[in-house]
Amino acid sequence: MIGIDIVYIPNIKKLMQNEVFIKKTFHSSETKTFTPEHLAGIFAAKEAFFKAINKKINWLNIEIKKEKSGKPNLTISTELKDKLKIQNIYLSISHDNDYAIAQVTLTTK
Ligand SMILES: CC(C)(COP(=O)(O)OP(=O)(O)OC[C@H]1O[C@@H](n2cnc3c(N)ncnc32)[C@H](O)[C@@H]1OP(=O)(O)O)[C@@H](O)C(=O)NCCC(=O)NCCS
Repeated sequence: MIGIDIVYIPNIKKLMQNEVFIKKTFHSSETKTFTPEHLAGIFAAKEAFFKAINKKINWLNIEIKKEKSGKPNLTISTELKDKLKIQNIYLSISHDNDYAIAQVTLTTK
């Protein structure tokens, strides 16, 4: 299963002033780099995941964690993984100028 999402970075830049939006959408680990392009990439990754699973879940049930190399990994709880019958999750993020894009690929059990 796949999902893809593109985000207009200036929209995220505006929303960054909204503390409620930030708290309901991102984990504190995800906002350590508090830049519009970084957050837009994470936002796109979560939306791409919703598309891949074909439903919307709580934003905070998804966490994008970075490896030392900078490579992002999309994580969800083991319970949720089992419920959605997900085996592997593959994520890629890119941003340039005004847009961020993310693609999620899932394999299922
Ligand atoms: C990763 C790489 C493709 C980034 O290229 P880029 O054009 O500058 O990056 P883009 O703007 O398209 O994408 C940036 C996003 O790529 C992702 N990314 C960063 N490093 C990555 C990596 N090693 N592998 C996969 N994705 C990576 C991140 O999500 C990043 O977003 P963020 O900066 O907000 O966290 C480039 O650095 C590369 O080819 N790296 C090779 C692997 C590498 O360097 N490893 C590091 C060893 S220490």
